[in-house]
Amino acid sequence: MNATPRRVEHQQTDKGSVPVYTTAVVEQPWSSYSREDHGTWAQLFERQQKILVGRAAREFIDNQRKFGMTPHAIPKFDELNRVLKSATGWELIGVEGLLPELTFFDHLANRRFPVTWWIRRPEQIDYISEPDLFHDLFGHVPLLLNPVFADYMQAYGCGGVKAHGIGGDALVNLTRLYWYTVEFGLIKQDDGLRIYGSGIVSSKGESIYCLESPAPNRIGFDLQRIMRTRYRIDTYQKTYFVIDSYEQLMDATRPDFTPLYAELVKLDSIPAGSVLPTDHVFHCGSGEGWAKSGDV
Ligand code: PHE
Ligand code: CO
Repeated sequence: MNATPRRVEHQQTDKGSVPVYTTAVVEQPWSSYSREDHGTWAQLFERQQKILVGRAAREFIDNQRKFGMTPHAIPKFDELNRVLKSATGWELIGVEGLLPELTFFDHLANRRFPVTWWIRRPEQIDYISEPDLFHDLFGHVPLLLNPVFADYMQAYGCGGVKAHGIGGDALVNLTRLYWYTVEFGLIKQDDGLRIYGSGIVSSKGESIYCLESPAPNRIGFDLQRIMRTRYRIDTYQKTYFVIDSYEQLMDATRPDFTPLYAELVKLDSIPAGSVLPTDHVFHCGSGEGWAKSGDV
């Protein structure tokens, strides 16, 4: 454990913005948060709480309440861990920024969820290009209290270690699954489509856009289809995938992916905004306002 954790952010170079990776596990330096940091948490927390009523998945809202997170101060990882460990055996660990893939997978495979210790600056309130404490805690942690989702996250970590051994193409396929479920997933509940993806719940604009805008596609979950679908990291998504339940996610991903990766190598990737004849379409996007540039 380090004495003073660093704040590791992307760097501007002559090639543009590049991500920087770090592997240290750190103690949350709670007393070093400034009034401004706590204020940023409060502002983001209150704003999202209001927006997410009737938009976020039931389990997300209920579990957030179980943690006792409030706008008053940045939560202490130790206190959240008391609730989390006894419920699903997961543990939050503090990190300084982005982790290399294999390190990230290894933590998940061991039920450790890495949380960036630092929070965004006031000028980044509406948009930040990398995960910070608000995204990680507010966005990811509530669903770790759900037993099925908790198992899915661990299985993903194990799958990641395996895909890493298989090679680059497998990792690309697997990362798309994470992107379109854990980060940007929607779920069909009794009263309509709801958000469970962390990248959405931690974003003011996208939590409204993903459900209410006519522009994006909303398509039923399909494992192989998702693993072929490209995505953009710097705009709202062109397509959201809808699960029926967390059990569906777990059941679909339980089989060994090795033969699937071998199959996928032979198939082309699918542009982020495409709708295929085989898709189960909840909503076919109008595409209005979409960036003309290609998907990653
Ligand atoms: N079953 C997958 C594999 O064999 C592992 C996995 C589980 C991946 C859940 C993602 C989500 O690789
Ligand atoms: Co995230």
